[in-house]
Amino acid sequence: MSKLKVAVAVSGGGSNLQALIDACSNPDFPAEIVTVLANRPQAYGLERARQAGIPTVLIDHTEFDDRESFDAELDKALRATGADLICLAGFMRILTDDFVRGWEGRMINIHPSLLPKHRGLHTHQRAIEAGDAYHGCTVHYVCPELDAGPLIIQAKVPVEPGDTPDSLAARVLTREHVIYPQALQWIAEGRVEITGDTALVDGQPGPVILDWDA
Ligand code: GRF
Repeated sequence: MSKLKVAVAVSGGGSNLQALIDACSNPDFPAEIVTVLANRPQAYGLERARQAGIPTVLIDHTEFDDRESFDAELDKALRATGADLICLAGFMRILTDDFVRGWEGRMINIHPSLLPKHRGLHTHQRAIEAGDAYHGCTVHYVCPELDAGPLIIQAKVPVEPGDTPDSLAARVLTREHVIYPQALQWIAEGRVEITGDTALVDGQPGPVILDWDA
């Protein structure tokens, strides 16, 4: 069986990348990471890739005059890898509409909130300030609108009394590491299809929701 070829894009620590690397290290997993791409030379994700023997590409966004030229280079590099799917894993760049449209249906992201709640940054602080009883994370297809796009899977975590943004982020991150490989597996197995604004998982409208107590 041929595996789905995946490029993972990171900007920072890459703990989600590590979860994907670990999943792909199982010979039975239906996807393989062909490249790890970063936009920052210090991204620790690059080191994780090297340790796993995965080819890396660095495209430093500070060397480009505008988003369009950076995204054009990104697109060229990603197409050269032969990747079927891009996984954004803490890739902290706003992407141009043209770039996103070129990969629509073939690019997913992990976001630390229960979308459509708390798009954008500082999600943990905003969940606490809003008095949310639950917070969590989402894997979704990427569309031109920021942190929108068909939702595949979410994990809910409780917001505990006395939580700080850091303590809540740490609880959410443990679940990110579960749902990102899960989403990738389903896609690689051909179990996810997009219809309009909705992702169907095994024919059922997403997102699949993983409860904290499950
Ligand atoms: C994660 O919280 C992810 O949801 C967000 O950026 C963070 C990246 O963490 N998009 P890491 O680099 O995977 O450790």
